[in-house]
Amino acid sequence: MLRTLLLPASLLVAVLAAAQQEQPPAQPTPAQPPASATAQTNPVKPTPEGLAHAKKVWGYDCALCHGDKGDGKGDVAASMNLTLKDYTKPDSLKDMTDGQIFDIIKNGKGQMPPETGRAKPDDIWNLVTLIRNMSKKTD
Ligand code: HEC
Repeated sequence: MLRTLLLPASLLVAVLAAAQQEQPPAQPTPAQPPASATAQTNPVKPTPEGLAHAKKVWGYDCALCHGDKGDGKGDVAASMNLTLKDYTKPDSLKDMTDGQIFDIIKNGKGQMPPETGRAKPDDIWNLVTLIRNMSKKTD
């Protein structure tokens, strides 16, 4: 009789002790905010197929504003009085991470419509590569 009463009691004590030991030690405050999606670097390796597809999407959905070559001089940009960055200049995106560029293409920003629903994540990463390549001299 005494044993059946004691057993659950000692079990409870053991569980409580274990729970206390599992408390994580106090963490020092991190100097940097936790890595977020916008800190991500492009996880998709460029392939000729991927870039060809990105070029097609660019022609349909982006060039009207950003211009065929990415110089920011598309017809719609002109008619909307938008001042866009010139991606053919190496400096234009130097302060943006791949993740930030991905995010803007995916979700849109200000006057720019989101590409979600039309493009898969891999397609968007290929667009990031395409845009980054626009400032590289190929000829
Ligand atoms: C209606 C015109 C329009 C279309 C279409 C458009 N954009 Fe934009 N885009 C903008 C504007 C305006 C901004 C600046 C947004 C801001 O900072 O408020 C922008 C910003 C960006 C940026 C962030 C860097 C920067 O220039 O500030 C990227 C990258 C970008 N666009 C890529 C694309 C891609 C890729 C597409 C096609 C899938 C696309 N855009 C389609 C108008 C457009």
